[in-house]
Amino acid sequence: MIITPLSYKGGEGKSTFAVHLAAWLNENARTALIDGDDNRIAVAWHATGKGLPFTVVGEGELAKASRTHEHLVIDTPARPKPEKFHELARSSDQIILVCQPRGMSLNALGAAIRDLEKLKVRYRVLVCRARPATHEAFDTLDALTRQGLPHFVNWIPEYIVAGKAFEQGRLCRDIDNAHALELWEAYGRVAQEVLNG
Ligand SMILES: Nc1ncnc2c1ncn2[C@@H]1O[C@H](COP(=O)(O)OP(=O)(O)OP(=O)(O)O)[C@@H](O)[C@H]1O
Ligand SMILES: [Mg+2]
Repeated sequence: MIITPLSYKGGEGKSTFAVHLAAWLNENARTALIDGDDNRIAVAWHATGKGLPFTVVGEGELAKASRTHEHLVIDTPARPKPEKFHELARSSDQIILVCQPRGMSLNALGAAIRDLEKLKVRYRVLVCRARPATHEAFDTLDALTRQGLPHFVNWIPEYIVAGKAFEQGRLCRDIDNAHALELWEAYGRVAQEVLNG
């Protein structure tokens, strides 16, 4: 399966999600993370410390990785150029629109949804980096439901351990932090929804 997190606005949590989704999928089936962002955040993550416990390659190696891996997760740049956006949308089995549950992010989400609907491709919205002590995740999920927009039931909380995971080149579950496992499990619940289709 080819799974592509996308967002028009930057900084929504795509790369961090892509790394942890790939980690969860790789527990049961060989999974490669394809770094399709020129900033090469996923490649840098993998190159720090001991490295991530799954394959991480640049997008030039996608075809080769597809021969030996069951799942490909593609980390994309924010607001890819329209031609690239179309290619990614058409070539993916699952498009995941990653969005923080806040003003500017929701505006950009609306634009991405309109473009995907024009292309007639299936997508789901993932609420990401929601502040745990607030209602913002629930309010946004309610609004998505009311508008009939497809979305993941589970959401990703905002915890500082996510940034530490990148800095140390590890998964959040391997960081010594009070919220490490809670964040890891949140990514796992979304990974299960991805597998359920
Ligand atoms: N669940 C989270 N909780 C807290 N911080 C997070 C979480 N996910 C990501 N972050 C932080 O938010 C920032 C942006 O995350 P990330 O790079 O994953 O987003 P992105 O959508 O890939 O950004 P870009 O569009 O620039 O590629 C980083 O500093 C990252 O550590
Ligand atoms: Mg990124």
